[in-house]
Amino acid sequence: MINVLTLNKIAACGTDIFDKAKYNVSDSVSAPDAIMVRSAAMHDMEFSDNLLAIARAGAGVNNIPVDRCAEEGIVVFNTPGANANAVKELVIAGLLMSSRKITDAISWASSLKGNGAEVGKMVEKGKSNFAGPEISGKTLGIIGMGAIGVLVGNAAMSLGMKVIGYDPYLSVKAALSMNPGIKIVSDIKELYAASDYITIHVPYNPETKGTINSETIAMMKDGVRILNFARGELVDSDAIISALESGKVASYIVDFPSDEMIGVKNAICVPHLGASTPESEDNCAVMAANELIDFIENGNIRNSVNFPNAEMNAVGTKIMVLHRNVPAVISEITAVLGNASINIENMMSPSKKNYACTLIDAIGDITDDIVSKLSAVENVIRVRVVK
Ligand code: MLT
Repeated sequence: MINVLTLNKIAACGTDIFDKAKYNVSDSVSAPDAIMVRSAAMHDMEFSDNLLAIARAGAGVNNIPVDRCAEEGIVVFNTPGANANAVKELVIAGLLMSSRKITDAISWASSLKGNGAEVGKMVEKGKSNFAGPEISGKTLGIIGMGAIGVLVGNAAMSLGMKVIGYDPYLSVKAALSMNPGIKIVSDIKELYAASDYITIHVPYNPETKGTINSETIAMMKDGVRILNFARGELVDSDAIISALESGKVASYIVDFPSDEMIGVKNAICVPHLGASTPESEDNCAVMAANELIDFIENGNIRNSVNFPNAEMNAVGTKIMVLHRNVPAVISEITAVLGNASINIENMMSPSKKNYACTLIDAIGDITDDIVSKLSAVENVIRVRVVK
């Protein structure tokens, strides 16, 4: 049996995909072959030697020690795009909430309870405190035009906004699915200078930490409204708090509340609801399960964050070698096979940053001795004979 550990509640439509004759999917497996996770913190976890893969039902992977996993030969997957619509819908709500003071207005209206017939008059007298601009005709700057950024941009265009996008890694898929009216800029300063609203949709990592800080805020329009439905750490808290206090930033809406942000005037804290829809939980669970199954059964990698995409059909035996992306590894792998009189029918060796995956369609008997020799090649991390 292949043991799959679920670390959070994963939608049944995802766990049901695993063939019960082959897989044991449970929240109490002790040495799992694979893990499905949503937001459980995994940084302090020790992994068993047989752990092959972790699939995050979601986009962000900051709860997973991705680099350590790569060094241990554990492929980490995420589900890009599966919750994009859910996040987009909340971002659109965020645009309106940041503009029309909806949350403060609702709190104030609730405070009128007990005033009997006077409530109507009090409402009409007090409502002017909560006026705010329309979004139509205003400019929305989107940092990160991935699956979510593109959906937000397209929706904002249909609400009458002008949209500027910035993404140095813009994919062909994103470019093709984006409304042609969206202006893509190559210098983020142009976005900062022109936007009335700025929303950020990039992964959180050491390079993106504090993207929005006192220097970048200084480049923005006075009264800009900032939305952060990606990760709290992308925005420097001290900088945003002082910009809210000075009025430079009119409103900050964040889906990742922190102690310091809660209660700050004109900061709206939402309790990480971006992907909290039944549809998105289902989509993420199904995508994560399919990624794991294709990896375990067919040795294909799709949507990994620490190894490259690698998919190949094999006519012989498929060997997967996960290794560091350094010179001479591939030639040593092929030498081991050549010395054992194994013919390579097909081979691919894509890389992603520091790691690579060599897939080999091998003709001949792949013995334990060959596997040991491949595993002993310097910089090889893990060898799997898939089928
Ligand atoms: C994501 O990273 O996919 C979203 O923030 C939602 C989540 O964390 O589950």
